[in-house]
Amino acid sequence: MLTQIKNPDYPIFFGDAAEALEGFLKDQYFSKLFILVDDNTGVHCLPRMAALPALRNAEVIHIPSGELHKNIQTCQEIWSALIRYQADRKALLINLGGGVIGDMGGFAASTFKRGIRFLQIPTTLLSQVDASVGGKLGIDFMGVKNSIGVFQNPETVIIDPAFLQTLPAREIRSGFAEMLKHSLIRDKAQWDILTRVHPETPEAWREQIAASVAIKQAIVAEDPLEKGIRKALNFGHTLGHALESYFLESPQPLLHGEAIAAGMVLETLLSEKLGLLSAAARDSIFVEIARLYPLPAVPTSAYPVLLDYMYQDKKNEQQRINCSLLDGLGSIKIDCTPDEDLIRAALDQYNQLISLV
Ligand SMILES: NC(=O)c1ccc[n+]([C@@H]2O[C@H](COP(=O)([O-])OP(=O)(O)OC[C@H]3O[C@@H](n4cnc5c(N)ncnc54)[C@H](O)[C@@H]3O)[C@@H](O)[C@H]2O)c1
Ligand SMILES: [Zn+2]
Repeated sequence: MLTQIKNPDYPIFFGDAAEALEGFLKDQYFSKLFILVDDNTGVHCLPRMAALPALRNAEVIHIPSGELHKNIQTCQEIWSALIRYQADRKALLINLGGGVIGDMGGFAASTFKRGIRFLQIPTTLLSQVDASVGGKLGIDFMGVKNSIGVFQNPETVIIDPAFLQTLPAREIRSGFAEMLKHSLIRDKAQWDILTRVHPETPEAWREQIAASVAIKQAIVAEDPLEKGIRKALNFGHTLGHALESYFLESPQPLLHGEAIAAGMVLETLLSEKLGLLSAAARDSIFVEIARLYPLPAVPTSAYPVLLDYMYQDKKNEQQRINCSLLDGLGSIKIDCTPDEDLIRAALDQYNQLISLV
């Protein structure tokens, strides 16, 4: 069954992707259709769509998979393919893949001939509950993630949990961290549900995917350009991004959601230290996240490196590290500015806690 998630700006469909796409294409004119896929979505996701009569003459643009390829060179490949197939401004680009495809395909479409229309069919849990909604598009440049990009909405987003059947369990767990984040910042009841399910079996909690998207959508709708409350979505990300960058160089890099899980623990500890959160809430959040994620120890030699990364965060103003912290389970306070000593103390406490599990 196809349902729609409330959104005034563009429709977000939830359910069978082929059915949703067919319905969408039926009512519109496009001079040509393009489908952007990577190595994995070309194999696992495209066949689910390829039988659609409306896609019979669509051109498929293949790019290599992975964050390493989310760059200007790959954009050039996409633009070259569009030129080769004589795309004009009435063409449509269908981004079929995870957050890399969505961010980069959306960016390539928004800049091609000053912008052609595009739609997002996210195929990873992370891109379904997070990347595909909110209009942020872009690529990595000179080693800095998402440093070149634009805000632009897609024509529509189609979220089909069936794509998750081929997604590796580790990737599902990574996306699940963003769902936990949405519940922690906005919806205690959803936190209670999510901490009782098994992340490996998304069929059992498919409706929670729609609920999680609805939280993100509602926050973005309140503050599309991230001047205020949208910063709530950064919970776990100030420390999480720093950990992600730090462990990128290690033999065991973390997936984004794994880094965010550790970041959420650390920012929960900061929330309690600042007197925003009760010790009981802090403990229950730690127990649940530690049960679901392998939390890496952080050597003290890494603290200055992590602080350096945190100072580079786009959200900072006047050289103060800016975090969104919890002031309750299901409630967020933006623009908190913990000082370095408090962050070091949270890292110490984190290391101590994880050594006990
Ligand atoms: N725009 C935003 O608001 C926003 C928000 C969060 C993350 N992001 C971006 O999203 C990206 C991460 O997204 P991601 O985790 O989806 O990464 P990804 O797109 O690299 O996908 C992860 C892996 O899964 C594979 N894959 C995708 N769908 C599959 C399927 N159904 N079956 C099997 N394999 C499949 C991909 O080929 C890739 O190897 C980052 O670049 C991040 O910056 C953007
Ligand atoms: Zn994230």
